[in-house]
Amino acid sequence: MGMSFAYGPTDQRSARATLEHALELGVTFYDTADMYGFGDNERFLAPFVQAHRDELVLATKFGIVLDRDDPSARGVRNDPGYLRQCLEGSLTRLGVDSVDLYYLHRKDPAVPIEDTVAAMAELVREGKVRHLGLSEVTGDELRAAHAVHPIAAVQSEWSLFSRDVERSVVPAAAELGVAFVPYSPLGRGFLTGAFSDAGSELSEGDYRRTVPRFTGDHARENAGLLEPLRRIAEQRGVTLGQVALAWVHQRAAAHGLPVVPIPGTRRPERVAENTAAARLELTAGELAALEPIAARVAGDRAADMSLTSAARE
Ligand SMILES: NC(=O)c1ccc[n+]([C@@H]2O[C@H](COP(=O)([O-])OP(=O)(O)OC[C@H]3O[C@@H](n4cnc5c(N)ncnc54)[C@H](OP(=O)(O)O)[C@@H]3O)[C@@H](O)[C@H]2O)c1
Repeated sequence: MGMSFAYGPTDQRSARATLEHALELGVTFYDTADMYGFGDNERFLAPFVQAHRDELVLATKFGIVLDRDDPSARGVRNDPGYLRQCLEGSLTRLGVDSVDLYYLHRKDPAVPIEDTVAAMAELVREGKVRHLGLSEVTGDELRAAHAVHPIAAVQSEWSLFSRDVERSVVPAAAELGVAFVPYSPLGRGFLTGAFSDAGSELSEGDYRRTVPRFTGDHARENAGLLEPLRRIAEQRGVTLGQVALAWVHQRAAAHGLPVVPIPGTRRPERVAENTAAARLELTAGELAALEPIAARVAGDRAADMSLTSAARE
């Protein structure tokens, strides 16, 4: 996502090198969406995807509608005709015949999830999609969807800073055997210790300037919450981000949940750092030191919480 959208300007050469380096390191799961830069991210990925199609698990999403006149506006559409048109657009931009995982990006409260998933299942029968996924759904919505067609993965925000999914969707996914794909597992970069006041640290137009926990007093307070991470990172000779990623792996394991966190980076040198975190095992004492953080985070995790599962629980 950050290669084309939401996180400010990108050096395209470095972003391409990041993709290639990730593959060399054994990263096979690549995530995009039709709305990342109005299709720009799918177009950007196309040469990489086509060169390595058989080596990759390719995921994209539909359901969020952007407005060219108002960059901060987000609409939601889930109707069957629309989703078919979205998939055709994604396949064309990516230059592939099918995607491995097709997600509903956001649920439209006006459309029953059963209807949307039934329409998505038709795409599976037609061979254009291998597996179905859902993003930012509640546990009840996941159960209702899974009864219509097997759901392979739920992708929602889950990190040391964002744990609301542990209330309903994580237990439901564990019960149903649905894999979890935590997005923003580095808290959109905050958990790497890079921020203390996004208003001055981020470029104009960076989405994070609109996220309450990144701004003003919230950001300053939240930067203080990283002390336990910093201590653990120093003691173990790793980075804060690696501690944050290891935490997601271990938290999912504690729930008995298959997990594939998807940290995002545009820099080749950061891929090795992020993948190495999967091999870091935190002790029970370290996990206990990290436990209180999420409850103390100031500010919401999204600019518009009505688009998150938390708003419907
Ligand atoms: N389903 C949804 O609604 C949804 C929402 C958001 C994201 N996503 C998906 O999840 C993916 C990851 O989300 P995200 O990009 O927000 O995740 P993230 O990994 O939590 O944060 C990415 C930020 O962290 C920085 N970063 C990454 N590795 C770093 C490291 N080792 N050291 C320091 N900084 C580091 C990146 O900067 P650099 O790029 O400069 O390295 C970027 O600013 C996206 O690409 C997208 O596919 C899905």
